Amino acid sequence: MGVVTTKPACLPLDVGRIRHDFPILSAQVHGHPLVYLDNAATSQKPSVVLDALHAYYTQSNSNINRGVHALGERATEAYAKARDVVQLFLNAQSVGEIVFTRGTTEAINLVAQAYGASHLKVGDRVLISQMEHHSNIVPWQMVCQQTGAGLDVIPVSDDGELMMGRFESQLTDRTKIVAIAHISNAIGTVNPVSKIIQAAHANGAVVLLDAAQSISHMAIDVQSLDCDFLAFSGHKTYGPTGIGVLYGKAALLADMTPYQGGGGMIRSVGFDQTTYRDPPDRFEAGTPNIAGAIGLAAAIGYMNQVGLPRISAYEADLLDYALQGLESVEKLRLIGRASNRAASVSFVIDGIHPHDIGTILDDEGVAIRAGHHCAQPLMSRLGIPATARASIAMYNTKHEVDALVRAIQRAIEVFGV
Ligand code: ALA
Repeated sequence: MGVVTTKPACLPLDVGRIRHDFPILSAQVHGHPLVYLDNAATSQKPSVVLDALHAYYTQSNSNINRGVHALGERATEAYAKARDVVQLFLNAQSVGEIVFTRGTTEAINLVAQAYGASHLKVGDRVLISQMEHHSNIVPWQMVCQQTGAGLDVIPVSDDGELMMGRFESQLTDRTKIVAIAHISNAIGTVNPVSKIIQAAHANGAVVLLDAAQSISHMAIDVQSLDCDFLAFSGHKTYGPTGIGVLYGKAALLADMTPYQGGGGMIRSVGFDQTTYRDPPDRFEAGTPNIAGAIGLAAAIGYMNQVGLPRISAYEADLLDYALQGLESVEKLRLIGRASNRAASVSFVIDGIHPHDIGTILDDEGVAIRAGHHCAQPLMSRLGIPATARASIAMYNTKHEVDALVRAIQRAIEVFGV
């Protein structure tokens, strides 16, 4: 599979054709056509990804960097090519800046331990925000406990936006790491990450961008963003589960100690002394998720073929349509009203628990997520225990949004609120 040049955004996305590429989208659920609006949790997979996994296991399956046989060479080459695809996708300077991980969570833990644990000391500060996913909170709490550093939290406004004035005063020369979500998984706010990165650098801090919710919705160029680290997951990007990426600037990765020890990450092992390979191998101990990397590369090829600018334009229009539809539902309250938003919309209906909304929608074939979305501090800030969340992908349609709105109206009727 090669890298397909991104096409211009001028031709609109052909959603009918795209839907044909995703076999699961023709499924029926409880006697209704599936309306899958839980894409922030995980996206569905196009045939090209399923085929790549099948082809790998039927034609090339072997361990990498070890086998002196044809299958070993094929698998090694395919895994290396997958890394090249990710490098081009992010516009990283070199393949050495691309580390394969299990997902966003492991990538953030890797930075917290392999960078944070050796660079933080008593009195230093790590700055995150009130809208972070637990995976961009807990690893920093853990490393702060280990090192004696402290955690600062950028507050969120009633509209669900970062309070940038507060951010500026919280950023001091003691701030060593800023870790921030590009897009909130819970309420869809798009954060002003370029501004945050520039301000952090001016204060000498490094920035980790949690791109789990943005990478499949907008084109990302790590060099022009100038982030120091970036994490994303394959399964939210039309690829397989169990594979993700940590991008790190070469100079930072080179200065980091290993996160885990084992095969594949060493140069030589002795009982007196062990030496490590250069990044990215240094951070990929053990047999990696070879099939996952190959599947992820196929997913990236698919997104490139459609074109991220075209996906963004299509989804922005669809999200506007969804917001209008939801706002027309009496008794429904949108949670989060950021001026710059993408991908996800959260709501509550007084008198119906979000889980009950989710269950009734499921009866109609409509899949959404209900709960705290692994963002309990954000829920506390907004004064609610949970929301119902609909999240879109490039294959969703206005017809599906209409089905969502109809199903919500049915939930309101059933509960008589
Ligand atoms: N982090 C994923 C979500 O927001 C699971 O649904």
